[in-house]
Amino acid sequence: MKELILILDFGGQYTQLIARRVRECHVYSEVVPWNTPLSDLLARRPRGIILSGGPASVHDEDAPQIPAALYDAGVPILGICYGMQLTALLLGGRVEKAAQREYGRVAVRMKDQQGLLGGLKSVSSCWMSHTWQVTSCPPGFRVIAETDNCPVAAMVHEEKKICCVQFHPEVTHTEDGSMLIRNFLFRFCGCSGDWTMSAFADSAVRQIRKTVGETGTVLLALSGGVDSSVAAALIYRAIGKRLTCVFVDHGLLRKGESDQVCHVFSHLFPVRFIRADAAARFFTDLKDVTDPEEKRHIIGRDFIEVFKAEASALGKMDYFAQGTIYPDVIESGQGANAAVIKSHHNVGGLPKELGFTELIEPLRMLFKDEVRALGETLGLPRELVWRQPFPGPGLAIRIIGAVTPEKAEIVRESDAILREEIAAVGLDRHVNQYFTVLTNLRSVGVMGDERTYDYTVALRAVTTDDFMTADWARLPYDLISRISARIVNEVSHVSRVVLDVTTKPPASIEWE
Ligand code: XMP
Repeated sequence: MKELILILDFGGQYTQLIARRVRECHVYSEVVPWNTPLSDLLARRPRGIILSGGPASVHDEDAPQIPAALYDAGVPILGICYGMQLTALLLGGRVEKAAQREYGRVAVRMKDQQGLLGGLKSVSSCWMSHTWQVTSCPPGFRVIAETDNCPVAAMVHEEKKICCVQFHPEVTHTEDGSMLIRNFLFRFCGCSGDWTMSAFADSAVRQIRKTVGETGTVLLALSGGVDSSVAAALIYRAIGKRLTCVFVDHGLLRKGESDQVCHVFSHLFPVRFIRADAAARFFTDLKDVTDPEEKRHIIGRDFIEVFKAEASALGKMDYFAQGTIYPDVIESGQGANAAVIKSHHNVGGLPKELGFTELIEPLRMLFKDEVRALGETLGLPRELVWRQPFPGPGLAIRIIGAVTPEKAEIVRESDAILREEIAAVGLDRHVNQYFTVLTNLRSVGVMGDERTYDYTVALRAVTTDDFMTADWARLPYDLISRISARIVNEVSHVSRVVLDVTTKPPASIEWE
């Protein structure tokens, strides 16, 4: 990687966002722990280093620290919030408790219209979240921004190329934040912004070839989702048919998806493709199971068993490939304390069980939107690349109560209608996730003078940035009306359609 920005993570809630903003400027960036040894940091020859925010106070005894020598290494530095306060303290400035804590959007007066602040409005709305602040700059620094309550909202040491901001340029609430980050990258670090997805694909292909060698073979579990599909396309480009993809079809995918996966990986990217048609087994094992967690466990277990049986029939493979992406990598280091609300269908332990010690994870440094961009660069179909998230246990957790092939058909058909109608009005790129749920509720209706006693289908459509919180999407009434009419007319055994109007929290996105 020619141009690299390292982000030292002090535990701030926006650290990942800093990495994203930098990459949006076509400069590659990585988040590393704050206590990474200085020699390791410098060995990677970063063009610049960004010090993130963090929850600690620089005056705490056990506050994260960095060696002051970092500031003499000749690498441009941008300190954000905690990163600014740490810089001030280490270089001889003063950090004190603010008379008034600033939280939220604050008007910041820019005292400079050049350098770091070039192109920013003279009074700009910025996102603040701090209790402590710099009250006196270290020698050699110049104050370049202030607020009513914060005398040093930004400071810079031009010669040493050290910039610091108390506000958070990485969050979208800071109106000119991206401009400030651009200025740091291009004016201070001398970056040119030459990181593109096709450059990434070329270097990833080289890396895979180097790892796998001339004759090595790779096994990949293809789910049909975006990440594993993009990983497969990339590895195919590197080693062709030495990649074997096993696709476990549990019969609980959306309409048309299973055939599409087969088509893509037999024709467009003709890997050695194995489809395990295991629907009958999954439906048998799920028979009469109504508890959501039990459904998940059965599906997870069956998936692993089917996959293992297919893999051992293939003989020995050298590497196991996974579509792990950057948020998975970061979260697996931090999310240890999160409560288990729903046990996710997880194949994390699979490689070990199969006896693999070597893993290939070519997407582990990419964010989701970058994975999609890479998929498009590699030539995967748009519908596949832009597919919305889909749970590993599939439609089983969208059928309340016992799962049967007939009920799966009802969800599949009603979901297809919902998707078609949403796409027809161009809302598919705006609503982040939408699907139908077969409630276990039957009600009385009348159809062609006959009494009916059929199922109720619920429509669930949400808007969300991160899927941790979500709002219900305000779909137009006439669209809802078309969807409802089509579902009751075209899908057998459905006589009623309702709309889910709950946010997450308290509800979750899926019903189970
Ligand atoms: P919830 O229902 O927890 O869903 O609000 C948040 C997001 O996660 C997806 N989801 C899953 N994804 N395995 C997955 O891979 C699962 O078991 C699973 N359960 C929920 C859900 O579709 C939503 O995007």
